[in-house]
Amino acid sequence: MHQPSSSAKPWAGRFNAPTDAFVEAFTASVDFDRRLYRYDIQGSIAHATMLARRGILSDTERDSIVAGLESVRERIDAGTFEWSIPLEDVHMNVESALTELIGDAGKKLHTGRSRNDQVATDVRLWLREEIDRIRTAIARLQSALVDLAEREAETIMPGFTHLQVAQPVTFGHHMLAWFEMLERDRGRLADCRRRMNVMPLGAAALAGTTYPIDRAYTAELLGFDRPAENSLDAVSDRDFAIEFTAAAAILMMHLSRFSEELILWSSSQFGFVELSDSFCTGSSIMPQKKNPDVPELVRGKSGRIFGHLMGLLTLMKGQPLAYNKDNQEDKEPLFDTVDNLKGSLKVYAEMMCEVACNRERMRSAAAQGFSTATDLADYLVRKGIPFRDAHEIVGKAVGLGVREGRDLAELTLDELRGFSPAIEDDVFAVLTLEGSVAARDHLGGTAPAQVRAAIGRARARLADAGVPDAG
Ligand code: ARG
Repeated sequence: MHQPSSSAKPWAGRFNAPTDAFVEAFTASVDFDRRLYRYDIQGSIAHATMLARRGILSDTERDSIVAGLESVRERIDAGTFEWSIPLEDVHMNVESALTELIGDAGKKLHTGRSRNDQVATDVRLWLREEIDRIRTAIARLQSALVDLAEREAETIMPGFTHLQVAQPVTFGHHMLAWFEMLERDRGRLADCRRRMNVMPLGAAALAGTTYPIDRAYTAELLGFDRPAENSLDAVSDRDFAIEFTAAAAILMMHLSRFSEELILWSSSQFGFVELSDSFCTGSSIMPQKKNPDVPELVRGKSGRIFGHLMGLLTLMKGQPLAYNKDNQEDKEPLFDTVDNLKGSLKVYAEMMCEVACNRERMRSAAAQGFSTATDLADYLVRKGIPFRDAHEIVGKAVGLGVREGRDLAELTLDELRGFSPAIEDDVFAVLTLEGSVAARDHLGGTAPAQVRAAIGRARARLADAGVPDAG
């Protein structure tokens, strides 16, 4: 049974029967796209200003449209605006409120425009600002990591490959690895913003408009780099949404990897770090528990964001040019991506400011597992032994250590010389953890001196980007 809608539509002229009430609710987007109202109004003010400049509207009409839109915005800001589902989306809600307020001039706002170029513009205006916020949030987290790296520039921990102890590294160096990952994320978002900052307005429904519009002027008013080159592309392109979500997915993949490390490191088996109580919760049954909920939840949230990327790619793959209603489905995944990204970055920046390091635990873990075996091989190479032979000699020494439950530094000089007469009593200096990390003293290496130099460069990069230095 049809339940006809009770309200008249802007397109009612062509129709003989009212919209079915369920179809009306099913096709409406106002419940979520109302979030774009500021950008919708900003775009409309620029459009009306351009129309008046080209003589398409009078200056009086423009003034009344601008004042009316501003008052609609104030009402929405104040929460007193009544959103209407029959009016379908944010665009028609705003336009209808405007017309109610100022009369006929309101009906002229849509001259030379379509909701197709309007929505494509609104989403770009909104996302552009969100990208700026997200890039700042990334920089805040980076700044927290640099501060932590500075505090722990000399702290020795085991470095892992295959999650097996590999070689000692400094904790500061490890934090700066995360910094680099985030630096690329920040760069990817800047690239995406640059490509996105092109204005669809003027494309109208798909082919352009018959009015003598000035697209360059509207673009300038809205801070776009230029108008989109092709009207069909302008209304149907959602590459920017996909590109943004792809950058977001990579960023979440990074946060998920950090989370995995923090979860391991804060377990009693590792005990390398302790997360502040404010970022953990207890168990309702096991009194001893302190669970790393925040990193776990961030790791979990990566799933939905990867999903949004797949969702948007699938949304677009079958669409012929130009606009199709399918595109209305771009908003919820974008909104959810932005919200969860910002939330994850914020909580991470705060959490990383309060991470406590257990230097003793890290050091003793690094002292186990023969982490300086490569240093011993390098020592033999310096004594003239080819690396492959040195590798085998050290392998045998490690074998003895494994059988006897002793680390390399705990073998006697005589025992070591049993594997190679080239070993002398200066060997013990290279078997220490401090000697091992200090020896990796080149750009990108783990030596504390290199970590300090890298911290200086990292701070300079953040300062170049206009990020306030927290440290
Ligand atoms: N709510 C629509 C969207 O989000 C606005 C554009 C509608 N255009 C149309 N031809 N029905 O895509």
